[in-house]
Amino acid sequence: MTPFTDRTERFSALKTATFAGLMLPALWIGWRYGAGDLAPLPVKEALHLTGLWSLRLLVICLALTPAQRFLAWPKLALVRRMVGLGAAAYAGAHLSLYVVMQHFDLAQVASEILSRRYLQIGLLALLGLAALASTSTDAALRRLGARWKTLHKAVYAITGLGLLHFFMQAKIDVSAAVLLAGLFILLMTYRLVLARRPVSASRALVFAGLAAAAATLTLECAWYGLASGISPWRVAAANLHIVHGPRPAVLVLATGLAAALAVWVRAASKTGTMKRIWTCLNRRSVLDRRPASARSSAG
Ligand code: HEM
Repeated sequence: MTPFTDRTERFSALKTATFAGLMLPALWIGWRYGAGDLAPLPVKEALHLTGLWSLRLLVICLALTPAQRFLAWPKLALVRRMVGLGAAAYAGAHLSLYVVMQHFDLAQVASEILSRRYLQIGLLALLGLAALASTSTDAALRRLGARWKTLHKAVYAITGLGLLHFFMQAKIDVSAAVLLAGLFILLMTYRLVLARRPVSASRALVFAGLAAAAATLTLECAWYGLASGISPWRVAAANLHIVHGPRPAVLVLATGLAAALAVWVRAASKTGTMKRIWTCLNRRSVLDRRPASARSSAG
């Protein structure tokens, strides 16, 4: 199987588009590097961008399982593996750039990692990703049998470690880390709700969206409060203003509600509810368009 073909070795447009999508951030980073757009510290900037993309791809990878179920699109399973491998590749590039930043002095790299907690956490996440990537082949799946699923559940812990590493290295603005953490919490809460209660997917998403938004806001307030002494009320109040763009908690809530709406519309269109709503709305608009005299005589 290549990045362009499915299991039957036939051309797959979905896999090809995914591969192109996975390459885009790398090409964009490379292009910006070449154009001098990453100055004054191009390697450090590229290190940041590859780390960010690795984590983003991990969160996208986790979102693909529920998306596969909502959209009833089993082929998404084909690209989940590709996205996971993409996350591992960006993490590998991230470490390589760190080695470049240390002028290829491996002893210095090792000593830095040993002396800084956030780098140790990053290394743990990277080793986890390497273990998952190396067992992502069909042969490994057959060899490991039921243990494969248990091993690959480690992706949740690895994402958690990656997020912790992201928070710990952040200097002042943690918005990007809070947003990714919020989306991760949204996915986890959704799984938990569905596993515990027999509710519809759209209701589970509404609940998960609300709970994850509250957790995201708490995390943001707690982080700024502990790291910079900023009052939690000021941080919470900032979430009510969208002049500088919506805050992470608002985006997490919007994501949960938008997904719930999409799932509900899809389910309703299957059961004919959408058709009934549409017919009802159409009938009302026809009645409203009648002349006023006809409307009043109709009572
Ligand atoms: C041995 C492994 C790793 C090393 C040595 C490492 C090193 C670093 C360094 C030096 C920074 C920048 C810190 C600064 O500017 O002060 C950083 C940032 C970051 N790393 Fe790593 N990292 C590792 C693994 C990972 C992994 C596995 C992930 C993702 C799953 C990751 C995601 C990130 C992110 C998201 C950032 C911040 C990017 C931003 O500021 O936009 N790192 N890392």
